[in-house]
Amino acid sequence: MIRLAVLGSGSGSNCQSIFNAIKDGRLDAEVVIVLSDNPDAYILERARQHGVPAEVIDCCGFKNKFPLEVQEAVAKKLQELKVDMVCLAGFMRLVKEPLLSAFPNRILNIHPALLPAFPGVEAWKQALEAGAKQAGCTVHYVDAGMDTGEILMQAYVPVLPGDTAESLHARIQVQEHILYPAAILSALSRL
Ligand code: GAR
Repeated sequence: MIRLAVLGSGSGSNCQSIFNAIKDGRLDAEVVIVLSDNPDAYILERARQHGVPAEVIDCCGFKNKFPLEVQEAVAKKLQELKVDMVCLAGFMRLVKEPLLSAFPNRILNIHPALLPAFPGVEAWKQALEAGAKQAGCTVHYVDAGMDTGEILMQAYVPVLPGDTAESLHARIQVQEHILYPAAILSALSRL
């Protein structure tokens, strides 16, 4: 059985979509651990409700940084758990060495924009402010840049008249929840 790890910082609705896809038989895999850098993140609660071990990544008080020693410890833990694929699901820190090279071509991220447009934070808001007619989401392999790795799959979402940042993000999230499990399946087929 394919072993997935999910890393997130927030609500974990994308993690939920992975749990759902596994339950429905759309994704033949198991989530062996959920990790969050935010002890209050609901993603941890969702994992526990699914009987999946959930642990906090202690980033030593740094607000945005993902310290090297901490990435090293995460890489070691995931290797010990024999994880096949690492899925970032709303994880808001930049993954770098040594975690990247511990899982070459095995770290995916979902981003709420049509990359390469609008990398970085609150991408849906950036799209709205730029007057984009189309928004969307992207699943990509993670490299050392910010949202720059090879694109695996994308879904388009219209920007509608009267959209607010919240309404657009909600429409994008509906597509994210379909896209991510499908993209994970595709990445697994390439291993
Ligand atoms: C998602 O929209 C995801 O695309 C975005 O955070 C949200 C997390 O929602 N990720 C990024 O912006 C990463 N650059 P979730 O916690 O409900 O899955």
